[in-house]
Amino acid sequence: MKVGAKHYRSIWFDNATQTVQIIDQRWLPHEFRVVTLKTLDDFAVAIRNMWVRGAPLIGATAAFGVSEQMKRDPSNASLNKTWDELHETRPTAINLRWALDEMRALLKNTPTAERAAVAHKRALEISDEDIECNRQIGLHGLEIIKKIAATKKSGEPVNILTHCNAGWLATVDWGTATSPMYHAVEAGISVHIWVDETRPRNQGAQLTSWEMDSHGVPHHLIVDNAGGHLMQHGDVDMVIVGTDRTSAHGDVCNKVGTYLKALAAKDNNIPFYVALPSPTIDWTVKDGILEIPIEERHGDEVTKVWGKLDDGSVGAVQISPDGTEGGNPAFDVTPARLVTGLITERGICEASPEGLAGLFPERVLN
Ligand code: MRU
Repeated sequence: MKVGAKHYRSIWFDNATQTVQIIDQRWLPHEFRVVTLKTLDDFAVAIRNMWVRGAPLIGATAAFGVSEQMKRDPSNASLNKTWDELHETRPTAINLRWALDEMRALLKNTPTAERAAVAHKRALEISDEDIECNRQIGLHGLEIIKKIAATKKSGEPVNILTHCNAGWLATVDWGTATSPMYHAVEAGISVHIWVDETRPRNQGAQLTSWEMDSHGVPHHLIVDNAGGHLMQHGDVDMVIVGTDRTSAHGDVCNKVGTYLKALAAKDNNIPFYVALPSPTIDWTVKDGILEIPIEERHGDEVTKVWGKLDDGSVGAVQISPDGTEGGNPAFDVTPARLVTGLITERGICEASPEGLAGLFPERVLN
Protein backbone atom coordinates (compact mmCIF):
# COMPACT_ATOMS: atom_id res chain seq x y z
CA MET A 1 0.00 0.00 0.00
CA LYS A 2 1.07 3.62 -0.30
CA VAL A 3 2.96 5.72 2.18
CA GLY A 4 2.69 9.20 0.76
CA ALA A 5 3.10 8.75 -2.98
CA LYS A 6 5.34 5.68 -2.73
CA HIS A 7 4.23 2.06 -2.73
CA TYR A 8 5.65 0.01 0.14
CA ARG A 9 5.51 -3.53 1.31
CA SER A 10 6.02 -4.14 5.03
CA ILE A 11 9.17 -6.17 4.20
CA TRP A 12 11.20 -6.27 1.00
CA PHE A 13 14.56 -7.18 -0.49
CA ASP A 14 16.35 -4.05 -1.63
CA ASN A 15 18.26 -4.90 -4.80
CA ALA A 16 20.45 -1.80 -4.64
CA THR A 17 21.90 -2.67 -1.23
CA GLN A 18 21.23 -6.42 -1.42
CA THR A 19 19.61 -6.29 2.02
CA VAL A 20 16.27 -7.08 3.64
CA GLN A 21 14.43 -3.99 4.82
CA ILE A 22 11.40 -3.56 7.05
CA ILE A 23 9.21 -0.78 8.34
CA ASP A 24 10.00 -0.59 12.07
CA GLN A 25 6.42 -0.55 13.36
CA ARG A 26 7.29 0.50 16.90
CA TRP A 27 7.47 4.12 15.82
CA LEU A 28 4.26 4.40 13.85
CA PRO A 29 2.19 6.50 13.48
CA HIS A 30 4.57 9.20 14.67
CA GLU A 31 7.71 8.29 12.75
CA PHE A 32 8.24 6.26 9.59
CA ARG A 33 11.49 4.38 9.99
CA VAL A 34 12.98 1.80 7.64
CA VAL A 35 15.47 -0.63 9.16
CA THR A 36 17.86 -3.12 7.56
CA LEU A 37 17.98 -6.67 8.93
CA LYS A 38 21.24 -8.54 8.34
CA THR A 39 22.18 -11.10 10.95
CA LEU A 40 20.14 -13.95 12.39
CA ASP A 41 20.05 -11.99 15.62
CA ASP A 42 18.62 -8.94 13.81
CA PHE A 43 15.75 -11.06 12.50
CA ALA A 44 15.09 -12.68 15.90
CA VAL A 45 15.06 -9.32 17.69
CA ALA A 46 12.79 -7.74 15.07
CA ILE A 47 10.20 -10.49 15.50
CA ARG A 48 10.47 -10.89 19.28
CA ASN A 49 10.35 -7.17 20.02
CA MET A 50 7.63 -6.55 17.47
CA TRP A 51 9.46 -4.27 15.08
CA VAL A 52 7.49 -6.48 12.70
CA ARG A 53 4.36 -8.23 13.89
CA GLY A 54 1.16 -9.80 12.58
CA ALA A 55 1.08 -13.49 11.75
CA PRO A 56 1.73 -13.41 7.97
CA LEU A 57 4.49 -10.81 8.30
CA ILE A 58 6.17 -12.80 11.07
CA GLY A 59 6.23 -15.78 8.67
CA ALA A 60 7.63 -13.74 5.77
CA THR A 61 10.29 -12.23 8.04
CA ALA A 62 11.34 -15.66 9.26
CA ALA A 63 11.68 -16.85 5.65
CA PHE A 64 14.00 -13.92 4.88
CA GLY A 65 15.88 -14.65 8.11
CA VAL A 66 16.60 -18.15 6.85
CA SER A 67 17.62 -16.94 3.39
CA GLU A 68 20.01 -14.31 4.73
CA GLN A 69 21.56 -16.82 7.12
CA MET A 70 22.05 -19.30 4.26
CA LYS A 71 24.16 -16.67 2.50
CA ARG A 72 26.47 -16.62 5.54
CA ASP A 73 26.52 -20.29 6.40
CA PRO A 74 24.48 -22.85 4.43
CA SER A 75 25.42 -25.86 6.60
CA ASN A 76 22.86 -28.19 8.20
CA ALA A 77 23.93 -27.00 11.64
CA SER A 78 23.28 -23.39 10.65
CA LEU A 79 19.91 -24.28 9.14
CA ASN A 80 18.78 -26.06 12.30
CA LYS A 81 20.08 -23.28 14.55
CA THR A 82 18.20 -20.71 12.45
CA TRP A 83 14.97 -22.72 12.72
CA ASP A 84 15.37 -22.99 16.51
CA GLU A 85 16.32 -19.36 17.14
CA LEU A 86 13.57 -17.88 15.02
CA HIS A 87 10.95 -20.37 16.16
CA GLU A 88 11.32 -19.40 19.81
CA THR A 89 10.75 -15.68 19.16
CA ARG A 90 6.95 -15.75 19.34
CA PRO A 91 4.82 -18.79 20.19
CA THR A 92 1.29 -18.13 18.95
CA ALA A 93 1.30 -17.16 15.26
CA ILE A 94 1.54 -20.44 13.35
CA ASN A 95 2.79 -18.70 10.20
CA LEU A 96 6.19 -18.56 11.89
CA ARG A 97 6.48 -22.34 12.12
CA TRP A 98 4.87 -22.76 8.72
CA ALA A 99 7.49 -20.55 7.03
CA LEU A 100 10.39 -22.13 8.90
CA ASP A 101 9.20 -25.65 8.07
CA GLU A 102 8.68 -24.67 4.45
CA MET A 103 12.20 -23.28 4.17
CA ARG A 104 13.92 -26.14 6.01
CA ALA A 105 12.11 -28.87 4.08
CA LEU A 106 13.13 -27.26 0.80
CA LEU A 107 16.74 -26.65 1.84
CA LYS A 108 17.29 -30.10 3.30
CA ASN A 109 16.85 -31.42 -0.24
CA THR A 110 19.13 -28.79 -1.77
CA PRO A 111 22.91 -29.17 -2.13
CA THR A 112 24.72 -26.86 0.32
CA ALA A 113 26.30 -24.79 -2.44
CA GLU A 114 22.88 -23.94 -3.89
CA ARG A 115 21.07 -23.24 -0.64
CA ALA A 116 21.58 -19.47 -0.54
CA ALA A 117 20.08 -18.95 -4.00
CA VAL A 118 17.22 -21.41 -3.46
CA ALA A 119 16.36 -19.90 -0.05
CA HIS A 120 16.42 -16.38 -1.44
CA LYS A 121 14.04 -17.31 -4.24
CA ARG A 122 11.62 -19.08 -1.89
CA ALA A 123 11.61 -16.18 0.62
CA LEU A 124 10.65 -13.81 -2.20
CA GLU A 125 7.94 -16.23 -3.31
CA ILE A 126 6.50 -16.48 0.21
CA SER A 127 6.11 -12.69 0.25
CA ASP A 128 4.46 -12.68 -3.17
CA GLU A 129 2.16 -15.56 -2.24
CA ASP A 130 1.05 -13.73 0.90
CA ILE A 131 0.14 -10.67 -1.15
CA GLU A 132 -1.87 -12.75 -3.62
CA CYS A 133 -3.69 -14.62 -0.81
CA ASN A 134 -4.64 -11.33 0.78
CA ARG A 135 -5.81 -9.88 -2.53
CA GLN A 136 -8.07 -12.89 -3.01
CA ILE A 137 -9.35 -12.58 0.58
CA GLY A 138 -10.23 -9.00 -0.25
CA LEU A 139 -12.21 -9.98 -3.33
CA HIS A 140 -14.16 -12.67 -1.43
CA GLY A 141 -14.79 -10.37 1.52
CA LEU A 142 -15.93 -7.64 -0.84
CA GLU A 143 -18.91 -9.80 -1.85
CA ILE A 144 -20.12 -9.86 1.78
CA ILE A 145 -19.74 -6.11 2.09
CA LYS A 146 -21.61 -5.61 -1.21
CA LYS A 147 -24.56 -7.64 0.10
CA ILE A 148 -24.75 -5.56 3.27
CA ALA A 149 -24.37 -2.34 1.28
CA ALA A 150 -27.37 -3.36 -0.83
CA THR A 151 -29.55 -3.30 2.31
CA LYS A 152 -28.49 0.25 3.19
CA LYS A 153 -30.21 3.52 2.34
CA SER A 154 -28.36 5.47 -0.32
CA GLY A 155 -25.26 7.13 1.09
CA GLU A 156 -25.28 5.12 4.33
CA PRO A 157 -21.96 3.39 4.95
CA VAL A 158 -21.42 -0.23 5.90
CA ASN A 159 -20.09 -0.06 9.47
CA ILE A 160 -17.33 -2.58 10.08
CA LEU A 161 -15.63 -3.16 13.42
CA THR A 162 -12.10 -4.54 13.54
CA HIS A 163 -9.72 -5.46 16.34
CA CYS A 164 -5.93 -5.14 16.47
CA ASN A 165 -4.09 -4.59 13.20
CA ALA A 166 -4.78 -7.22 10.58
CA GLY A 167 -3.85 -4.66 7.98
CA TRP A 168 -1.16 -4.43 5.33
CA LEU A 169 1.37 -3.80 8.09
CA ALA A 170 0.55 -7.20 9.59
CA THR A 171 1.06 -8.96 6.25
CA VAL A 172 3.37 -8.26 3.34
CA ASP A 173 0.66 -6.17 1.65
CA TRP A 174 -3.13 -5.62 1.57
CA GLY A 175 -3.76 -7.10 5.03
CA THR A 176 -6.30 -9.81 5.78
CA ALA A 177 -9.18 -8.13 7.63
CA THR A 178 -8.47 -4.83 5.88
CA SER A 179 -8.26 -6.24 2.35
CA PRO A 180 -12.08 -6.40 1.92
CA MET A 181 -12.25 -2.84 3.27
CA TYR A 182 -9.67 -1.55 0.79
CA HIS A 183 -11.38 -3.43 -2.04
CA ALA A 184 -14.75 -1.95 -1.02
CA VAL A 185 -13.30 1.56 -1.15
CA GLU A 186 -11.82 0.82 -4.59
CA ALA A 187 -15.25 -0.45 -5.72
CA GLY A 188 -16.87 2.80 -4.62
CA ILE A 189 -18.78 1.25 -1.71
CA SER A 190 -19.17 3.47 1.30
CA VAL A 191 -17.65 1.92 4.41
CA HIS A 192 -16.90 3.23 7.88
CA ILE A 193 -14.51 1.39 10.18
CA TRP A 194 -14.69 1.20 13.98
CA VAL A 195 -11.07 0.66 15.00
CA ASP A 196 -10.58 -0.94 18.42
CA GLU A 197 -7.58 0.68 20.08
CA THR A 198 -6.38 -2.80 21.17
CA ARG A 199 -4.67 -2.47 24.49
CA PRO A 200 -2.06 -3.08 25.64
CA ARG A 201 0.10 -2.32 22.57
CA ASN A 202 -2.55 -0.32 20.77
CA GLN A 203 -2.07 -1.84 17.34
CA GLY A 204 -5.50 -0.45 16.41
CA ALA A 205 -4.77 3.07 17.62
CA GLN A 206 -1.27 3.19 16.20
CA LEU A 207 -1.33 1.02 13.09
CA THR A 208 -4.87 0.40 11.82
CA SER A 209 -5.84 4.05 12.31
CA TRP A 210 -2.68 5.07 10.45
CA GLU A 211 -3.52 2.74 7.57
CA MET A 212 -7.12 3.98 7.39
CA ASP A 213 -6.02 7.59 7.59
CA SER A 214 -3.32 7.12 4.93
CA HIS A 215 -5.79 5.55 2.51
CA GLY A 216 -8.73 7.83 3.14
CA VAL A 217 -10.96 5.15 4.68
CA PRO A 218 -13.53 6.80 6.99
CA HIS A 219 -12.97 5.52 10.51
CA HIS A 220 -13.23 6.24 14.21
CA LEU A 221 -10.87 4.98 16.87
CA ILE A 222 -12.81 3.53 19.82
CA VAL A 223 -11.79 2.14 23.20
CA ASP A 224 -11.83 -1.62 23.36
CA ASN A 225 -14.89 -1.61 25.60
CA ALA A 226 -17.11 0.44 23.27
CA GLY A 227 -17.88 -2.32 20.75
CA GLY A 228 -20.72 -3.94 22.72
CA HIS A 229 -22.50 -0.62 23.15
CA LEU A 230 -22.18 0.24 19.45
CA MET A 231 -23.51 -3.20 18.48
CA GLN A 232 -26.55 -2.85 20.78
CA HIS A 233 -27.44 0.42 19.06
CA GLY A 234 -27.25 -0.84 15.49
CA ASP A 235 -24.01 0.96 14.70
CA VAL A 236 -22.05 -2.13 13.62
CA ASP A 237 -23.06 -4.12 10.50
CA MET A 238 -20.29 -6.67 10.64
CA VAL A 239 -17.02 -7.53 12.36
CA ILE A 240 -13.90 -8.61 10.46
CA VAL A 241 -10.76 -9.63 12.33
CA GLY A 242 -7.58 -11.51 11.49
CA THR A 243 -6.11 -14.54 13.19
CA ASP A 244 -2.74 -15.80 14.39
CA ARG A 245 -3.72 -19.45 14.33
CA THR A 246 -6.93 -21.16 13.29
CA SER A 247 -7.61 -24.73 14.33
CA ALA A 248 -8.68 -27.39 11.85
CA HIS A 249 -12.07 -27.25 13.59
CA GLY A 250 -12.41 -23.51 13.00
CA ASP A 251 -11.49 -22.07 16.42
CA VAL A 252 -9.77 -18.74 15.96
CA CYS A 253 -6.86 -17.47 18.02
CA ASN A 254 -6.32 -13.73 17.65
CA LYS A 255 -5.27 -10.67 19.64
CA VAL A 256 -6.65 -10.70 23.18
CA GLY A 257 -10.11 -9.16 23.28
CA THR A 258 -11.29 -10.73 20.04
CA TYR A 259 -13.34 -13.32 21.95
CA LEU A 260 -15.30 -10.62 23.79
CA LYS A 261 -16.14 -8.96 20.48
CA ALA A 262 -17.37 -12.27 19.11
CA LEU A 263 -19.60 -12.78 22.17
CA ALA A 264 -21.08 -9.31 21.80
CA ALA A 265 -21.59 -9.84 18.07
CA LYS A 266 -23.41 -13.14 18.70
CA ASP A 267 -25.67 -11.51 21.30
CA ASN A 268 -26.59 -8.83 18.79
CA ASN A 269 -26.93 -11.03 15.68
CA ILE A 270 -24.05 -9.29 13.96
CA PRO A 271 -21.96 -11.31 11.49
CA PHE A 272 -18.48 -12.02 12.80
CA TYR A 273 -15.98 -12.90 10.05
CA VAL A 274 -12.35 -13.93 10.30
CA ALA A 275 -9.99 -13.30 7.36
CA LEU A 276 -7.01 -15.60 6.93
CA PRO A 277 -4.51 -16.86 4.41
CA SER A 278 -4.23 -20.66 4.60
CA PRO A 279 -0.74 -20.71 6.22
CA THR A 280 -2.56 -19.42 9.32
CA ILE A 281 -4.44 -22.72 9.68
CA ASP A 282 -2.81 -25.19 12.06
CA TRP A 283 -4.07 -28.51 10.73
CA THR A 284 -2.58 -30.33 13.73
CA VAL A 285 -4.81 -28.51 16.23
CA LYS A 286 -8.44 -29.45 16.80
CA ASP A 287 -9.43 -27.66 20.01
CA GLY A 288 -8.00 -24.15 19.86
CA ILE A 289 -8.72 -23.32 23.49
CA LEU A 290 -6.88 -26.34 24.85
CA GLU A 291 -4.10 -26.67 22.29
CA ILE A 292 -2.94 -23.24 21.08
CA PRO A 293 -0.10 -21.74 23.16
CA ILE A 294 -0.94 -18.20 24.25
CA GLU A 295 1.97 -15.80 24.40
CA GLU A 296 2.50 -14.09 27.76
CA ARG A 297 4.22 -10.78 27.16
CA HIS A 298 5.92 -8.47 29.62
CA GLY A 299 3.67 -6.74 32.16
CA ASP A 300 5.25 -3.38 31.31
CA GLU A 301 3.18 -3.35 28.13
CA VAL A 302 0.10 -3.07 30.39
CA THR A 303 1.39 -0.72 33.08
CA LYS A 304 2.89 1.66 30.51
CA VAL A 305 1.45 3.29 27.41
CA TRP A 306 3.59 4.18 24.42
CA GLY A 307 3.00 7.37 22.46
CA LYS A 308 4.09 10.86 21.46
CA LEU A 309 5.10 12.95 24.46
CA ASP A 310 4.57 16.69 24.88
CA ASP A 311 8.12 17.42 23.75
CA GLY A 312 7.46 15.58 20.47
CA SER A 313 9.57 12.55 21.32
CA VAL A 314 8.09 9.03 21.25
CA GLY A 315 8.22 7.09 24.50
CA ALA A 316 6.30 5.40 27.30
CA VAL A 317 4.42 6.74 30.32
CA GLN A 318 3.51 4.66 33.37
CA ILE A 319 -0.22 4.62 34.12
CA SER A 320 -0.41 2.46 37.28
CA PRO A 321 1.15 2.51 40.76
CA ASP A 322 4.82 1.61 41.10
CA GLY A 323 3.90 -1.59 42.95
CA THR A 324 1.34 -2.90 40.45
CA GLU A 325 2.49 -5.63 38.07
CA GLY A 326 0.84 -6.11 34.69
CA GLY A 327 -0.60 -9.45 33.53
CA ASN A 328 -0.38 -9.75 29.77
CA PRO A 329 -1.87 -12.71 27.87
CA ALA A 330 -1.48 -11.47 24.30
CA PHE A 331 -4.09 -13.61 22.52
CA ASP A 332 -7.39 -15.39 23.13
CA VAL A 333 -9.37 -18.06 21.32
CA THR A 334 -12.81 -17.50 19.84
CA PRO A 335 -14.63 -20.83 19.53
CA ALA A 336 -15.84 -21.75 16.05
CA ARG A 337 -19.51 -21.54 17.14
CA LEU A 338 -19.17 -17.74 17.43
CA VAL A 339 -17.65 -17.30 13.97
CA THR A 340 -20.02 -16.60 11.06
CA GLY A 341 -17.46 -17.48 8.42
CA LEU A 342 -13.80 -17.78 7.51
CA ILE A 343 -12.67 -15.67 4.55
CA THR A 344 -9.74 -17.43 2.89
CA GLU A 345 -7.96 -17.07 -0.43
CA ARG A 346 -10.06 -19.95 -1.76
CA GLY A 347 -13.38 -18.49 -0.69
CA ILE A 348 -15.59 -18.25 2.37
CA CYS A 349 -16.44 -21.26 4.50
CA GLU A 350 -18.13 -22.20 7.73
CA ALA A 351 -15.80 -22.30 10.74
CA SER A 352 -15.97 -26.06 11.11
CA PRO A 353 -13.92 -29.15 10.15
CA GLU A 354 -16.30 -29.71 7.24
CA GLY A 355 -16.14 -26.09 6.12
CA LEU A 356 -12.35 -26.04 6.07
CA ALA A 357 -12.07 -29.49 4.54
CA GLY A 358 -14.43 -28.33 1.77
CA LEU A 359 -12.04 -25.55 0.77
CA PHE A 360 -8.84 -27.48 1.46
CA PRO A 361 -9.64 -31.11 0.59
CA GLU A 362 -5.92 -31.93 0.38
CA ARG A 363 -5.55 -31.17 4.11
CA VAL A 364 -7.72 -33.77 5.84
CA LEU A 365 -7.27 -33.89 9.61
CA ASN A 366 -5.82 -37.16 10.93
O1 MRU B 1 0.83 -9.23 18.63
P1 MRU B 1 0.61 -8.95 17.17
O2 MRU B 1 0.54 -7.50 16.85
O3 MRU B 1 1.60 -9.69 16.29
O4 MRU B 1 -0.81 -9.56 16.88
C1 MRU B 1 -1.37 -9.43 15.61
C2 MRU B 1 -2.75 -9.95 15.52
O5 MRU B 1 -3.31 -10.43 16.48
C3 MRU B 1 -3.41 -9.92 14.17
O6 MRU B 1 -4.77 -9.71 14.29
C4 MRU B 1 -3.16 -11.28 13.49
O7 MRU B 1 -1.79 -11.57 13.45
C5 MRU B 1 -3.69 -11.31 12.12
S1 MRU B 1 -2.67 -10.36 11.04
C6 MRU B 1 -3.22 -10.41 9.47
